[in-house]
Amino acid sequence: MTTDNNIYPIFDRMMTRADKENLLGQHSVMIWFTGLSGSGKSTIAIALERELHSRGIMCRILDGDNIRSGINNNLGFTAEDRMENIRRIAEISKLFVDTGIVTIAAFISPDEAMRKLACDIIGREDFIEVYVNTPLEVCEERDVKGLYAKARKGDIKNFTGISAPFEAPAHPDLCLDTSALSLKECVDRLLDLILKRIKK
Ligand code: ADX
Repeated sequence: MTTDNNIYPIFDRMMTRADKENLLGQHSVMIWFTGLSGSGKSTIAIALERELHSRGIMCRILDGDNIRSGINNNLGFTAEDRMENIRRIAEISKLFVDTGIVTIAAFISPDEAMRKLACDIIGREDFIEVYVNTPLEVCEERDVKGLYAKARKGDIKNFTGISAPFEAPAHPDLCLDTSALSLKECVDRLLDLILKRIKK
């Protein structure tokens, strides 16, 4: 227990993750989606949550636009702010994982350093990295939020894929290209990867 900054954590006296997992009848895990804006991260996350929920598995989605309207509404899109965005999300995610909940994060998280930070906070053994590797041309063609057009005109600075970098993960646990796979195929591949880990 650390006392040098007058902080006295009580983790050792609280109910444990194993207690929570027993209560819920499941093992928790972190499913971390990374990929360009418009690649399909949120759509897949929502479909996966519905599928798992229907199988009696408790999930929590954390999503870019939601988190950035709330706890991270003071952060922008500089490299520093994105790192802080991901750090806070990873800390929040860890609370959910420690509560026995299957936690699904859908953030661009555009570089290896950010994803490594998240993985280090959450723990390698709980961290499943899923790269939604839909090509930039397809994301831009879809332009669901109209942001690529604005970024091309220079109306949005530091836009990932246009005026800010996206570094592909070197060793993702799974790649899902939504220009080649249906939503059901994406969910089925995820289920193949995670169901055996979640089931008690
Ligand atoms: S991250 O890079 O810090 O991981 P995050 O996933 O939270 O990004 O937020 C991405 C969402 O913010 C995009 O889907 C888009 O709707 C919006 N957005 C606004 N400005 C930008 C920008 N400059 N770059 C990328 N996304 C942006």
